Amino acid sequence: MERTVITLGGVLLNSSVMNASGPHSAERAEILELANAHRGAVVFKSCNQFGLDAPDNLKNRGVEYFADIAGDLVPRGKPIVASVVGETDDEIVRVAATLDLAGVKLIELNLADDFVQKAVNPFASLERLRQIVGRVRGEVQTPLALKLPPKLELPPAEVVELCRSLPLQVLLCANDLPKDLEVDLKAAIAKGPERALSQVHTYRRAAMGAVEIVAVGGINSGRDAYLAHLTGANAVQVGSALIKEGAGALTRIDTELDDLLGEYGHASVNEIVGSLRFS
Ligand SMILES: Cc1cc2nc3c(=O)[nH]c(=O)nc-3n(C[C@H](O)[C@H](O)[C@H](O)COP(=O)(O)O)c2cc1C
Repeated sequence: MERTVITLGGVLLNSSVMNASGPHSAERAEILELANAHRGAVVFKSCNQFGLDAPDNLKNRGVEYFADIAGDLVPRGKPIVASVVGETDDEIVRVAATLDLAGVKLIELNLADDFVQKAVNPFASLERLRQIVGRVRGEVQTPLALKLPPKLELPPAEVVELCRSLPLQVLLCANDLPKDLEVDLKAAIAKGPERALSQVHTYRRAAMGAVEIVAVGGINSGRDAYLAHLTGANAVQVGSALIKEGAGALTRIDTELDDLLGEYGHASVNEIVGSLRFS
């Protein structure tokens, strides 16, 4: 499955497919199962400093729990992506710094969650976003990723420029493609006039490779992953399919993606990233 090998934020990953933060990634046993089941990166559930019992979607045991698991996996050479939440700028910086010290390879800032948005309002303006992400950037060495809210109103070109200047290497964007989209995958052509098809596609068109993009949402098959790559994703994350199917979903999707790349004559997934055109 060499066709799906990529680098993301400068980190070599054996697959462009990884789990999404949250599903099947909150408990040590789940994380170890993911790490053993798939050759790509493993993404941790979002964590804050001391753990949360609510809201339900952010229940976690706190950053030290995840730093400890990183301590087991890092010596095995497993690339770890950690995810950060918090209720203050200070907490977000402290959690990111702890994960950085634990040796994770990439840190996702999950500022998109409602709970975090209500507490720190990171997307109130570009200045506010620069303030909070800039503080994290100043305290950690690891490449950074930012999860965007699906309905973000800040101008994409300016968000990209902010990322370049910090720098923040990766944006996690919604793979919110229209349900009725008609695409010839092999020819990489979508039916209809040129337009932005999803948040992934919007940010690809704004960034043109200057910032890397991870697609999250609705990736359930190799075909979904292939299409997300065509619209500009450098990597894809899988959430709900893991809940339905367990850790095996990742290798299934990776294998299906690899097979499609082979069938359409591509030696690497990088050849198709952002290559979609319109008929
Ligand atoms: C049960 C559950 C827990 C989640 N927890 C988190 C989380 O801790 N951090 C995060 O960034 N996203 C979290 N998410 C969102 C997922 O990472 C992902 O963005 C979402 O499930 C969409 O992908 P999917 O369509 O493949 O499910 C969670 C989603 C679910 C269903």
